[in-house]
Amino acid sequence: MDRSPMTRSELDYGDVQGLVRFGYGKMKAASYVLLRVKNPAAGRSWLRKATVTSAVAMDPPPSTAMQVAFTAAGLDALGVAPSVLAGFSAEFLAGMTEASRSRRLGDVGCNAPSRWEWGHSTGMPHLVVMFFAEQGGLDALVQSVAGDVWSDAFEELRWLGTADLDGIEPFGFVDGISQPRIDWEQRRDVTGAMNEYSNVVALGEVLLGYRNEYDKYTDRPLVDVDSSSAGLLSAEDAPGKKDVGRNGTYLVMRDLRQDVRSFWQFIYDQVGGDVAEADKLASAFVGRTKAGDPLVPIQQQAIPGIGPDPGQIRRDQFTFDQDATGVRCPFGAHVRRANPRNTDFHGRQTGLGRLVAALGFGSNAFRDDLMSSVRFHRIVRRGREYGGGLSPADAQRRASPNDPELGLHFICLNANIARQFEFLQNAWMMSTKFSGLTGESDPLLGNREPLPGYPVTADFMAPVENGLRRRVSGLPQFVTVRGGAYFFLPSLRAVRYFGGGG
Ligand code: HEM
Repeated sequence: MDRSPMTRSELDYGDVQGLVRFGYGKMKAASYVLLRVKNPAAGRSWLRKATVTSAVAMDPPPSTAMQVAFTAAGLDALGVAPSVLAGFSAEFLAGMTEASRSRRLGDVGCNAPSRWEWGHSTGMPHLVVMFFAEQGGLDALVQSVAGDVWSDAFEELRWLGTADLDGIEPFGFVDGISQPRIDWEQRRDVTGAMNEYSNVVALGEVLLGYRNEYDKYTDRPLVDVDSSSAGLLSAEDAPGKKDVGRNGTYLVMRDLRQDVRSFWQFIYDQVGGDVAEADKLASAFVGRTKAGDPLVPIQQQAIPGIGPDPGQIRRDQFTFDQDATGVRCPFGAHVRRANPRNTDFHGRQTGLGRLVAALGFGSNAFRDDLMSSVRFHRIVRRGREYGGGLSPADAQRRASPNDPELGLHFICLNANIARQFEFLQNAWMMSTKFSGLTGESDPLLGNREPLPGYPVTADFMAPVENGLRRRVSGLPQFVTVRGGAYFFLPSLRAVRYFGGGG
């Protein structure tokens, strides 16, 4: 949509679901229930009364929170009009398991949706209700929410439990460090050329109804003003229309099973059992040490938008300027694929140098050309682990049939699933052509199935000093997809609107 002359209105945090602004880190217990609508009228009635937690900052902060998000099938089952549904993005409407999309996301072979535990055919949820509570408070919260109307309205498809691993994901690395900083006040001018890495993203990259990094509004359902839409906010860019998407976002959920034993056994085999070398190789796969420190030097010069937690500033204050050859942090490392930072214009080129690079010339032009600017492909991560941890030493021991399954309920928020999550997953994580590499995809997430034209996808290349490279071959598949879906996490006003029948 084109730029409109309308003024920007202030954000009403009371209308935004809290998960967009907070990770609810102090609420150590969380559980997500996947539901199907069995009685639409009862479902709408539950929605009208549901106490969905908003993004308003409170002192003291609340001890519990509840969030709700819908799949396209769920909105349809609740009776939302087809004309309203049609305004949502094509990828949300088609869903995560559409065949060509599965290929692009790497959901083939043992990741194929036909093998999933949920998110496919009859296992497709209509909505997810997410419960968060301080330790000991989860059961009471669930009971207070899931009363009689709930039982009339919904069929429970599956409960997804989570585990509190103190910020460490099951492979043993600190997680949840790097996040983009959302420009809530909409102060930043995105129209200027911005080739330097900044951690700030426009509000419209996360919330619908606001300008994004292109200074445009992402498409979303806009409806006429009538009695049913009266409670919705107006669209900033379309006078006379009400905005169903405003203050809402898309929530991508993927159930990622982690084979921690195979991860550490493979690594120990590669280094002949040497503990220090094993940690080094595992850190090269991730792109950070187990403690979360980056593999490249922390920069003294401030990077706009890093923070606000001082510990996070230190651990996130870096770009790949100092590591143009990937000797410290391999190009294929998970965090370098997930956020290449300034790889477009590394070396801090200015003036003529930048022009030369922008035109595709210069010594690094080949690799620069393979990237587009990272600010268009950022996601807000809100995932939680499940099952527990397993130390590298324990991972060497033989598995027992009673071992719990370990993994990550990966969750990310973004206004444009195709340009943000899917681009990241496809062009950066799964691609065997990322950054001029061949024969490899993400060392943690990669699906090792051969691809047309790429018979080898299970390598990992780590450049070492003097232009030499160390190749690790035959990486097993460490992460398997067990479920997933695209949800819409609406504003509180839109929750009521859907409750009223849309
Ligand atoms: C089981 C699967 C996964 C594991 C074990 C994992 C682990 C990690 C770890 C340890 C970090 C570094 C700590 C941090 O900055 O938070 C990280 C960063 C990150 N991961 Fe993952 N991750 C997984 C799946 C994914 C997926 C599916 C995506 C997106 C498609 C993703 C995107 C990111 C991003 C964007 C970052 C931050 C990079 C940065 O800004 O430096 N991860 N992940």
